[in-house]
Amino acid sequence: MTEILETTKKNLLKAAEAIRQNGLVAFPTETVYGLGGCAFSEKAIVKIFEVKKRPRFDPLIVHIAEKDDYKLLCSTIPSTAEKLIEAFCPGPLTLVLPKREKVPDIVTSGLDTVAVRMPSHPIALQLIQYSKCPIAAPSANRFGHVSPTRAEDVLSDLGDSVDFILDGGPTLVGVESTVVFVTEEEIILLRPGGIPIEDIEKVIGRVNIKRKMSKLLSPGLTKKHYSPKTPLYIYEGNLEELVKINRDDYALLTPAPLLVNDITIYPLSQAGDVKEIAANLFHQLRKLERMDYRAIIAIPVKQSGLGHAVMDRLIRASTGTVKIENQKFVFIDR
Ligand code: TXA
Ligand code: MG
Repeated sequence: MTEILETTKKNLLKAAEAIRQNGLVAFPTETVYGLGGCAFSEKAIVKIFEVKKRPRFDPLIVHIAEKDDYKLLCSTIPSTAEKLIEAFCPGPLTLVLPKREKVPDIVTSGLDTVAVRMPSHPIALQLIQYSKCPIAAPSANRFGHVSPTRAEDVLSDLGDSVDFILDGGPTLVGVESTVVFVTEEEIILLRPGGIPIEDIEKVIGRVNIKRKMSKLLSPGLTKKHYSPKTPLYIYEGNLEELVKINRDDYALLTPAPLLVNDITIYPLSQAGDVKEIAANLFHQLRKLERMDYRAIIAIPVKQSGLGHAVMDRLIRASTGTVKIENQKFVFIDR
C-alpha cells in the first residue's frame, strides 16, 4: 500500500523528489486533495490519466506557487484576469487562459488554453516550490467518484497507484475551485466552486459574466460526476410531508437539523451554514455510501454564494429526483 506521509519538511522533500522523477503525489489543497505530477512531464501526466481512469479529453488544472507563474504558462493575461488574480489568488479560483507552447498538449487535452490555479494551502504551495515545477493535478479520486477531502479517501480510491499521499487533514473549503474562462470582454463560468460568482462580480465591475456553462469550453463537465455508490436523489417537495414518511432504509441528507425527534437525518451543518455544508458534503457522501441505505435523499440548499457549488455537485451526483405521492416516494431517474 502507498504510504500516507505526515507533512514534515523531510517528507515534503521526499514527495517533491518523486514529482521530479516523473512520479505521482497526492496532496491537500484548500478545496479537495489533488493527484499531482510535474506539468512538464508527459510521462507523469499519462500516469495521472491512467491512475484516475480519466478520459484523455478532460484537461487538467496546473497548480502554481507564485502569481508570477501565470506568465510562465499563459501567453496572454487580459486585464480582467489580472484583476481576478489580484483579488483571489492564492485561493479556490482557476483561470482558463491561452496557453504557452511549452505546456504539453496532453495536459490541456489538445486545447489552446490552460487552466491555472494558485492554491492557498501551505502544503500544496511548499510541494510546488520544492518540486521546482508547476504541478498538474486533478482531484485525487477515481474518475466519476466523490472528490477526496481526506488522505484516507485518496488511499481508498487510488490505493497503490501513487508514490505518496501527503496528509494535511480534512480540507477546509470542501468543494473544488471555481473555473472561469477569461477574455478582455467577458468571463464565462465553467464550474461553480469555492469562490462564489457573486464575489467575482463585485471585483470585476462591468465585465460581462456568462453563467451558462459551455460544453465546448469545458470538455470535462460530464452530467454525471461526483457520484456515491449509493444512488442519490434530490428531494422536490415540502419538508412536512417528508418527515411524515419515516423510512429507515433511506438516508436523509439535509442542510441543517430538522425539528423532529423520531427520524434519523444527516445534517451537513448544525447551523445551516453554507461554508460548513460545503466542507462536509463529500465526506458525508462517502460515509453514507459505506452504510446500507437503498438511496440517499438530498434536500436542496439555497442557491446563493457557495450554495451554487453545493447544488451543482449534488445534481451531478444524483441519479434523479424524488417526490412524494400518496405518502410514498416516487423516484424519477434523469
Ligand atoms: O479545486 C480544484 O480545482 C481541484 C484541486 C485539486 O485543485 N482540482 C480539480 O481538478 O477539481 P479536476 O481535474 O477534477 O477538474 C478540473 C476541471 C474539469 O472540469 C476540466 O474540464 C476543467 O477544469 N478544465 C481544465 N482545463 C481546462 C481548459 N483548458 N479549458 C476548460 N476547462 C478546463
Ligand atoms: Mg474532479
